[in-house]
Amino acid sequence: MINKNWWEKEVIYQIYPKSFKDSNNDGIGDIQGIREKLPYLKELGITTVWICPIFTSPMVDNGYDISDFEGINPEFGTMADFDQLLKDANKLGIKVILDLVINHTSDEHPWFQEALKDKESPYREYYIFKEGKTEPNNWRSIFGGSVWEKLPNEDTYYFHAFDKKQPDLNWENPKLRQEIYGMINRWLEKGIAGFRIDSITFIKKDQDFSSLPADGVDGLASCKSKTRNRPGIERFLNELKEETFEKYNCVTVGEAPGVPYEEYGDFIGDGGYFSMIFDFNYSDIDVESGSDWFKRTNWTTKEFKEKLKRSQEVLQANGWGANFIENHDQPRAVSKFIKPEFQTNEAAQAIGMLYFFLRGTPFIYQAQELGMQNAERKIIDQFNDISSIDNYYRSIQEGFTPEEALGFVNQRSRDNTRTPFPWDASQYGGFSDTTPWLSMTEEYPNRNAQSNPVLAHYKQMIALRQHGAVSDVLTNGTIVFLDNVPDNVIAYKRVLKDRVVYCYTNLSDTEELVSLDAGSIDLFLNSHDDLVSETNDVKLHPYQSILFKKINEVNGNGN
Ligand code: GLC
Ligand code: CA
Repeated sequence: MINKNWWEKEVIYQIYPKSFKDSNNDGIGDIQGIREKLPYLKELGITTVWICPIFTSPMVDNGYDISDFEGINPEFGTMADFDQLLKDANKLGIKVILDLVINHTSDEHPWFQEALKDKESPYREYYIFKEGKTEPNNWRSIFGGSVWEKLPNEDTYYFHAFDKKQPDLNWENPKLRQEIYGMINRWLEKGIAGFRIDSITFIKKDQDFSSLPADGVDGLASCKSKTRNRPGIERFLNELKEETFEKYNCVTVGEAPGVPYEEYGDFIGDGGYFSMIFDFNYSDIDVESGSDWFKRTNWTTKEFKEKLKRSQEVLQANGWGANFIENHDQPRAVSKFIKPEFQTNEAAQAIGMLYFFLRGTPFIYQAQELGMQNAERKIIDQFNDISSIDNYYRSIQEGFTPEEALGFVNQRSRDNTRTPFPWDASQYGGFSDTTPWLSMTEEYPNRNAQSNPVLAHYKQMIALRQHGAVSDVLTNGTIVFLDNVPDNVIAYKRVLKDRVVYCYTNLSDTEELVSLDAGSIDLFLNSHDDLVSETNDVKLHPYQSILFKKINEVNGNGN
């Protein structure tokens, strides 16, 4: 790993450990399960895995509530299991990055437990406590209800931006910050390749803690404008980088919602806080806010294209991006981006191509490569995700019927992507021998990792980016979006010196004509079996994507 920006060449695969593979048949995925499936990942062609939290946790938010940063949750295995996984992965040339959750801990973390016991405990300064007879303000937490929770025997409240079992750490306290840095460095010393960093823009809160005009019938107001990317955060983020990441040649992927594009230069690029960050501006196109699922939009492909273009241009101007269409907080991409009657394998392949060849490091969320779809649930009790339960009751509170509320939740639930990985068509999909912690999707007997055309297509996409004739163009090339195409077609080219590769995707349910001479193009990849040409045009099927070069093109003449 001598190359400074080595992560630009990676394809990163995100594993949700609870749902990947259960090695000991207790219905819960685990570390040995991941280890068992390393050959699958190797064959897929990915080069790095990001494993969602595996640390000791009461699992209220499936591991994003950590009670010991340096322990492994027994459900997942032991530290010896992890060491073995790391060693075996590295042997296969697969790097491992972990999830770093440092905005909050579990309320069961010893620091918080100590803080509760004694008003005078130094651990009170590790969290945010405020004395008073009522909540200090009207901020709403991300998972619903007040951000404040009262202590049982005191007129004191503590702050939680997420669930009440996830108290926020007090980053204003230098002692706490040093504890965090030590922990990070010990993990990096173990030889992991870096971190995905959870909710990192939440670490600085406006210190006035003043109330806001209510934005819901609950009388509360979203805490985001007072707790996300607030002035002063730059001091914490620079210090974090200097005390930890910078000393290692590691990759850092920031989950950094709430950063305006004007500030991307501070977050990524030379001297930025992170190697790259996720941009949620286009992935959340279907909702007005990622935490209020009842506020749905009627988005068009044209709007999506504009957002994607802007995002790529900003990332390119400032550094490097982390490209994704799915993760453990999002619904399945096929269900989100593709109209119901068109949710085919070909469409799954097309949406894959559309994002995979953008400039940046592609992330694949587990089973995205199978073309999986959302799992529809009939009653709220079938959901596990805390934010689904909150959104259901809040939608009803806002005046929607229970059916409507269930509809919003089905479309957006984080459980959509958290279903167990279907390895085959057997009972419980080869994930486990026993009833899994969350039900399999209904589609799994017909859609799993056995003879799956979408999977074969993903292998081709990865191979093209990593080892093909144009792999350097697809990795290092600049990106330019093309304007001379129909509104429903998203077209861009990747340019490296005199070489150009094009990706055209029809993200709509109608056929679209694009002015291309089919005889003069050399196809690298096609989501469909055919390419229809009409005089000087190519007619793209609904949800068709093509990746190609123009024969004999000299850079500059190709559009
Ligand atoms: C991030 C995680 C999400 C979690 C939240 C609180 O957004 O991706 O799963 O619930 O942070 O840690
Ligand atoms: Ca298990």
